[in-house]
Amino acid sequence: MTNVMQNSAAQMGTESVMINKKEPVRQDTMDSGYASPPREMPVKESSLTVRLNDGNEIPQVALGVYKAPNGQETEDAVTAALDAGYRHIDSAARYMNEEACGRALNAWLKKTGTPREDVFVTTKLWDADHGYEPTFNALNDSLKKFGLDYFDLYLIHSPSDDEEKRVASWRALEMAQRLGLVRSIGVSNFGKADLEGLLENASVVPAVNQIEVHPFCQREELVDLCHQNGIVVEAYSPLARGNKLEDERVVALAEKYGKSPAQILLNWNAARGNVVLPKSLTAHRIQSNLQSFGFTISAEDLQEIDRLGEENYVTGSLHKSDD
Ligand SMILES: NC(=O)c1ccc[n+]([C@@H]2O[C@H](COP(=O)([O-])OP(=O)(O)OC[C@H]3O[C@@H](n4cnc5c(N)ncnc54)[C@H](OP(=O)(O)O)[C@@H]3O)[C@@H](O)[C@H]2O)c1
Repeated sequence: MTNVMQNSAAQMGTESVMINKKEPVRQDTMDSGYASPPREMPVKESSLTVRLNDGNEIPQVALGVYKAPNGQETEDAVTAALDAGYRHIDSAARYMNEEACGRALNAWLKKTGTPREDVFVTTKLWDADHGYEPTFNALNDSLKKFGLDYFDLYLIHSPSDDEEKRVASWRALEMAQRLGLVRSIGVSNFGKADLEGLLENASVVPAVNQIEVHPFCQREELVDLCHQNGIVVEAYSPLARGNKLEDERVVALAEKYGKSPAQILLNWNAARGNVVLPKSLTAHRIQSNLQSFGFTISAEDLQEIDRLGEENYVTGSLHKSDD
């Protein structure tokens, strides 16, 4: 077992979050529950997956499309991502670009003859649509906009302030999963209290909690709580929205490893077992972000990065870890 694996396993503190690589991996990596290729083996980045608590596998890297317009620019970005090897798109009703994402996805599937099942599609229930019936209406609307008959993952975008509606929305997601409209269900922006409240009322434990996580905002207690409950953490804003790419400590590590600062941030996150959702509309960045995982940051350097971390939100998130 390499140092980074020991470090990651300790940080994850659980065996319930499993990383898988579709190609054969060495037995010593399998034993840890953390499968990372040895340093000398070239990694096929798009084949990295994490197993969810419902048995489904989620590609560990997604193209995020927050603030991407509902038009050609986003279609080009989604197409570039799929061409580059991404097999996971993270959208939301709130981003108002589900049509553009769907157009690009469906055209690419047709052009390449790739089965729908090979691409993992996530979207989210917006806050205004909480409640049992409104959730179904919103889900159907999103399916229509995407031109799909199911989503791989459907998330509650944020916890509703209305406890009753929040539970009703989750019940709707559980039913949608039973009906096959969504394969996995999860939450986003749920803090400790939100999560504990949901777990008391849920029949299905959320498969993921999508929250802001990057080296400057590590949220260890909330991440640990997710892992203790078998919930995979999806790290949003994994590039800290581009605001920390000039941080001298990140730049020094990038120089040391011959990588870009963005690749250092993404590698750190994935080594913790998190799913990462870097957003870019720029073709060469889309490509280089996917090439962030075929190297190993030493345990010593990971500790250095760990010291960067406080609850330093770049998104202005209203939802903090303890909420
Ligand atoms: N659930 C939620 O509430 C929530 C909240 C926030 C985000 N998210 C999800 O997480 C995704 C990512 O988060 P985010 O969009 O906030 O921020 P992010 O991915 O951390 O950063 C995106 C910014 O970094 C730039 N960038 C991307 N790759 C780069 C590279 N290699 N070098 C330099 N700059 C680079 C992008 O510019 P260009 O586009 O110009 O390349 C963009 O300005 C979102 O798109 C969304 O899917 C979810």
